[in-house]
This record gives sequence, structure tokens and C-alpha cells, in this order.
Amino acid sequence: MSHISVLLHETVDALLAERNTGIYVDGTFGRGGHTRLLLSKLDEHARVYAFDKDPQALAVAAELEQQDPRFKIIHASFADLKQELAARGIEQVDGVMADLGVSSPQLDQAERGFSFMQDGPLDMRMDNSQGETAAEWLLQIEEEALANIIFKYGEERYSRRIAKAIKNAGLIETTGQLAEIVKTAHPKWEKHKHPATRTFQAIRIAINKELEDIDIFLPQAVEVLKPEGRLAVISFHSLEDRLIKQFIQKESSLAEDTGWGLPQVQQDTRRLKKIARICASEEEVKANPRSRSAWLRVAEKLA
Ligand SMILES: C[S@@+](CC[C@H](N)C(=O)[O-])C[C@H]1O[C@@H](n2cnc3c(N)ncnc32)[C@H](O)[C@@H]1O
Repeated sequence: MSHISVLLHETVDALLAERNTGIYVDGTFGRGGHTRLLLSKLDEHARVYAFDKDPQALAVAAELEQQDPRFKIIHASFADLKQELAARGIEQVDGVMADLGVSSPQLDQAERGFSFMQDGPLDMRMDNSQGETAAEWLLQIEEEALANIIFKYGEERYSRRIAKAIKNAGLIETTGQLAEIVKTAHPKWEKHKHPATRTFQAIRIAINKELEDIDIFLPQAVEVLKPEGRLAVISFHSLEDRLIKQFIQKESSLAEDTGWGLPQVQQDTRRLKKIARICASEEEVKANPRSRSAWLRVAEKLA
């Protein structure tokens, strides 16, 4: 199955803010839905640099590179944004977007090992050309650390029992085995949710360093933006959205008074202005249920 882009027009329109040229970054190429729409709205002088960690996404992007000289793909995490752009002689850009999380092909291909719906090798790496698989990672991690991760990144109440069951199992080679272990250990199944959903999410976030990467990426995005350049980020769960919301909040508010009661000149350190917070329309959710939990936040760099 291919990837249906979420909040496609909303994101690209917000990013462009009526411009039709400039230098733009797509932090998460995926199958290139957002990049392609962006390119279609830009003139021949514009440039689009896209990042992805996934070799399959890179193969699709390499074809687009052949067809469109305005486009370049970078095999790196968006956490390396500044350094990768600098290596290409770019200090400032007109817009940065990111559509976080996993793509549908990553979830749907059993051999990528992200899904409890289809049995496959327990992998879960977005970049499966390097690093530890989920199976290797689970063997190494201590039970308590695993429980903390399942609690924090999966928001799973029964994290301790689940971590114990996973560690007692020894080597877990497939997603099916892991799903079964979690299911058996989980005392209280939620309606309309597989009992392993939260645990799979937590392990995926941890092995791909998803939240750490967002934390590193956001300040870099602001640094590379030109005044009036836009940042547009789509998130799919509350942990991601909270990071983005808090970051934009901090960057768009005046620093708090120290409370010492002394008259002081408050330094204005604001770098962003909030522009929008948008969720998918009813029609989009009907056509693509994955968009149900998506939030797009948009901010603009101040002069
Ligand atoms: C939701 S998909 C993007 C879909 C894309 N917007 C489209 O319309 O086709 C997310 C993509 O971002 C990639 N990705 C996730 N985190 C990343 C990171 N830190 N750095 C680079 N790519 C990342 C994933 O490999 C995946 O291909």
C-alpha cells in the first residue's frame, strides 16, 4: 500500500504563505506527497531539500531527483538539518516542514517489523541500513528501563508487567511473538485497541529516537529560517504534539519575569509568531482514518 499524505494542501499552503519561490525543506520525504505538491507550486528557481532515514523512501526520492533538478534528497535524520544544509552551502531557507512518524509502507510491510497486525521480523528501524533492531534492543535493555520507556512513550499503565513478561521471554524474533507476549501480560484490554498498541509505539519511538530528534530539530529549524519563513509540523500523537506546542509557545512568548520585583528591561527573545493549529477535515478523516489524530502546527519566524 502506498502512503496517503495527511493535511497535504493545508501544510503546503501554510508553508508557502503565497510565495512561489525560495528554498524549502521537507524533513520527512516518505513517498514525497508533500514535496511533490510543494514543487508543483514553485517556480524554476526554487529549491527543495528533503530528508529521510528510510532507504525505501530514498529510492523513491532518487527517481524524483532525476525528474526534477530543483529537488535534492538527503539520507539523514532531520535532527542533522543545520549541518546537512551547511554542507550544501545553505545557511537560510524560506520554509521547513515535517510530517512526523512512520509512513504507511513502513507499517504495512511485514518485513519492516513495525506491525502487530502482520507477523514479521522484529525490526522497527526507520533506517534499516544501520543500528540495532527492536529484537536486539529488547535483549540488551534492563527490565526497569524498558518499563519506564513503555510507560513514558506508550503511556501504558501496565508497563511493569509487560516489561517483565518481555524480559522473561528472552529473544523475541517476530512481531507476532511480541504481540502475543504483551497480550498475555496485559490485564485490561482497551476497546478498539490491540493490547500491544501502546507497547509497540513505545519501542518504535525509543529505537528510532523519535522524540530526541524532534527536540534537536525544532531549534535548528528556527535558526535556519529567514524572517517570515514558516515552520509547519504535523504530529500524530500527544507526545509529539506536546513537544511542538511547548516549543512554539516558548519561542513566541516573552520570557517570564524573574519575580525579584526590581525594575528591569525585559529582553524580547521571541523568535516565532504562532500562525495556525489545524486538524484534518471530516472528509479527510473519512477518506483516510490515519489523519484522525493528526495536528498541524504552523509558526512564522520573526524579523
Ligand atoms: C509520515 S511519513 C511522511 C510522508 C510524506 N509527507 C508523504 O506525503 O509521502 C514520515 C517519514 O519520515 C521519515 N522520518 C521519520 N523520522 C525521521 C527523522 N528523524 N529524520 C528523517 N526522516 C524521518 C520516515 O522514515 C517516513 O518515511
